[in-house]
Formats: sequence, structure tokens, C-alpha cells
Amino acid sequence: MPLLEVSDVRAHYGSIEALKGVSLTVEPGEVVTLIGANGAGKSTTLRSISGLTPATSGRIVFEDHEITRVPAHEMPARGIALAPEGRHCFPRMTVRENLDLGAYRRRGQEVAADLERVFDLFPRLQERENQKAGTMSGGEQQMLAIGRALMARPRLLMLDEPSMGIAPILVQRIYETIGEINRSGVAILLVEQNANYALDISRRGYVLETGRVALANDSAELRDDPDVQRAYLGT
Ligand SMILES: Nc1ncnc2c1ncn2[C@@H]1O[C@H](COP(=O)(O)OP(=O)(O)O)[C@@H](O)[C@H]1O
Ligand SMILES: [Mg+2]
Repeated sequence: MPLLEVSDVRAHYGSIEALKGVSLTVEPGEVVTLIGANGAGKSTTLRSISGLTPATSGRIVFEDHEITRVPAHEMPARGIALAPEGRHCFPRMTVRENLDLGAYRRRGQEVAADLERVFDLFPRLQERENQKAGTMSGGEQQMLAIGRALMARPRLLMLDEPSMGIAPILVQRIYETIGEINRSGVAILLVEQNANYALDISRRGYVLETGRVALANDSAELRDDPDVQRAYLGT
């Protein structure tokens, strides 16, 4: 029984059909990667799962419950958290205030323990606890976006292009941390345009092309596929 099952999902922005029947699964404890060119529908897939751009048809099931029409604000309580593309931290709020927002309707000891865990994963955030988020580097804001998503204690963490626009040394650090988060039992659905790191860390991957799944395979097989290499691995 998959943790997440997306079946034939279509999604629209006005008259534009961004998803033309996407199907994918994430098993418990898995890291799954979604790769694809700019505009392929990667972000829209994550947005549909998280209720931000609701599916116009198809079905999404998480932990045996249908969530196709569950509104976005209920998703953290259902166990799904998204660290969106472009990070979206609140720039005038401090690191700590941004993290507290992620705790979402939970209070007290549990939240304190989660905060400690996020600071263990990203010591940089603890050092910058009282700094305004908008004054941090791109990589630090990405850490904050992931940290904030973790504060909801998700069972599925979705990451939209965590390496975009970030210095290589921080990308490496972020990917190490994604591995740690996964080893703690959180399943991860990862979107990347630059697929090298993503295919290294994931077990399986899907290639999206213009709103459709063009290819699905083990990450090792995808990495060895000449078409994938040419299009997505810069080799
Ligand atoms: N807010 C929006 N309004 C209209 N079209 C959009 C919007 N967001 C995305 N699209 C379109 O939907 C398609 C898929 O976009 P997106 O999911 O963002 O792709 P990706 O994340 O793979 O780059 C693209 O054709 C894009 O232009
Ligand atoms: Mg995108």
C-alpha cells in the first residue's frame, strides 16, 4: 500500500492544462524524484498534492484517505508539508518566527522538541535565530523553508527545487540533511531541474514532459539513460 498515490491527475490554470493525467506513487520511507524541464508541470504536481492548485480530475490518496479536494491549509495536519519553489520565507520576520509559523496549530513541548530537531539538522538556523529571514543568503533561506516544513512534523515532505540558485557547498549540505530527514522516517518527494543530486539521493524517479509522465524508473537506471543524461544531467 503506497503512502501517496496520485492517479491520472489533471490540473489547470484558467484554460491552460498544466497536468494532463499524472500518475505516481511514493512508498513509506521512500525518496522519489520528479525531474523535468522548465514548465513541465513539476511544481504544479506538488501544488495539486498539497491542495494549492486542486486537481480538476483524477484522484490523490494519502495514507488510505482521499485528499483530492482537501484544502491546502489542512494538509500540514494531514501529514503533508511542502517547501515551495522560491522558498517563500517571511522576510521581515525572524528565523524563529518563521519556524514557529510552521508548527501550525500545535503548541508546547512537542513544538519545542521539533524546534530542537530542526536546529540539530541546520545549526546555521540556530545561530541566526533572531535574524530577519530576508537578510539571509539564498541557501540559508532554503534551509529555513525546509525547517519550517519540518515543524509540521510531516510524514511526507515535498521539496520544490531545493538547490535552485544556491552555492554548491550549501547544496551539498542541504542534500546531506535531506538524507538525514529521510533516515528519520519521513518520505520525500523531491522536485529538481538539476537532477544530479536528486537522482543520487532517491530510489526511484519520474520524468515529466509537458504535463505527462514520460518515464518512470529506478534512479540508477535513469542516471544511466542517455536521453536523461542529455536532457537533465548536463553531460
Ligand atoms: N500561475 C500560473 N498561471 C498560469 N499558468 C501557469 C501558472 N503556473 C504555472 N503555469 C503553467 O503551467 C505549466 C507548468 O508549470 P510548472 O508546474 O510551474 O512547471 P515546472 O515546475 O516543471 O517548471 C507551465 O506551462 C506554466 O507556464
Ligand atoms: Mg517549478
